[in-house]
Amino acid sequence: MDPHPVTAPKTTEPARQAPAAVGDLFGPIQPALQRIEQRLQAELTSQDARVDEVVRHGYRLGGKRLRPALLLLAGEAVGELTDAHELLGVVVEMIHTATLVHDDVLDEASLRRHVDTVNARWGNERSVLLGDFLFSHAFYLAATVRSDFGDAATACQLIGRSTNRVCHGELRQTLSEGDLSLSSADYYDIIDGKTAELCACCCRLGALFSGASAEVADALESFGRNLGMAFQIADDLLDLTGDEATTGKTTGADLAKQKMTLPLIYTRDSLVNGPRVSLEEWLQNPSTESRAEVAKLVEAVGGFAFAQKTAIEYANRAVADLAVLEESELKQSLATLAFFASRRDA
Ligand code: IPE
Ligand code: IPE
Ligand code: MG
Ligand code: MG
Repeated sequence: MDPHPVTAPKTTEPARQAPAAVGDLFGPIQPALQRIEQRLQAELTSQDARVDEVVRHGYRLGGKRLRPALLLLAGEAVGELTDAHELLGVVVEMIHTATLVHDDVLDEASLRRHVDTVNARWGNERSVLLGDFLFSHAFYLAATVRSDFGDAATACQLIGRSTNRVCHGELRQTLSEGDLSLSSADYYDIIDGKTAELCACCCRLGALFSGASAEVADALESFGRNLGMAFQIADDLLDLTGDEATTGKTTGADLAKQKMTLPLIYTRDSLVNGPRVSLEEWLQNPSTESRAEVAKLVEAVGGFAFAQKTAIEYANRAVADLAVLEESELKQSLATLAFFASRRDA
């Protein structure tokens, strides 16, 4: 199968509506998620009051905790949850937060999780170091995992490779800034690395540490990857159409950094002559006004609808990956989570 749907996707509507809030889907794993939350808070402290404030900042109000939730849901869909899943849930959330702290430096973003970014409050130097602190702490913890189904070396290897691919995706993206001719194939590869990879890793880890067969672990990894693709395409839509009060983070950052995302790529390729020149001029001169003007052009050619359909197509692929699992409440939660990823407002 073609890894990426570069032509117009067939599916237009999700099989079921996304829930109002992602937390609604975490019912079966809520107690384990709460313990992960407590462990995160316990791990991320410092005796130095000023360092303590910076370290804790990334956790204010929290995020959606999607990555630990994926790890737990995949684990419970396959077998029993153990302490190893909770420890690995802490690890993947730390890695994710580290990538956000560094990403906000790259994007010069000022708002994250409804509060100032670390770079806005303490500057880029502290942000780089906080990201490093989170990455290194995550690997220190991963090295202590114990389980009947997997060892620390396996966990560290999988998480290390994925983290490396995330950084590779982010590097490719920064090197592509300003490239208004970026192909859709390159776009899909970049988001596969920077976002889908960690979601895939979480699902593989959860499954493996519950004793999954190679076939089931591969299928759940693919589920996580397809969900992650849907998630990032939806995120790229929100950058153009969302509002900061709801997303809790800086919008318009992709435009400001001249990042070609799927709605923009589709619009560029749909326009010719004058309108295409106008689009390129707006993209080359980012401003609040250009966000509105670009959004009008994207809307007019169906660029938002195309990106939304493509995200839903990835969610459908994710659901198809679940065919290896018996019917269960957990399987249903995973399927609904895939549709949440593709259609969300935060
Ligand atoms: C933000 O991830 C970065 C992307 C991959 C788009 P989330 O939207 O999961 O961020 P939090 O953890 O909920 O804040
Ligand atoms: C970055 O993508 C994803 C990461 C690997 C951190 P974005 O730059 O779109 O993420 P947001 O919108 O800042 O959360
Ligand atoms: Mg960003
Ligand atoms: Mg974004």
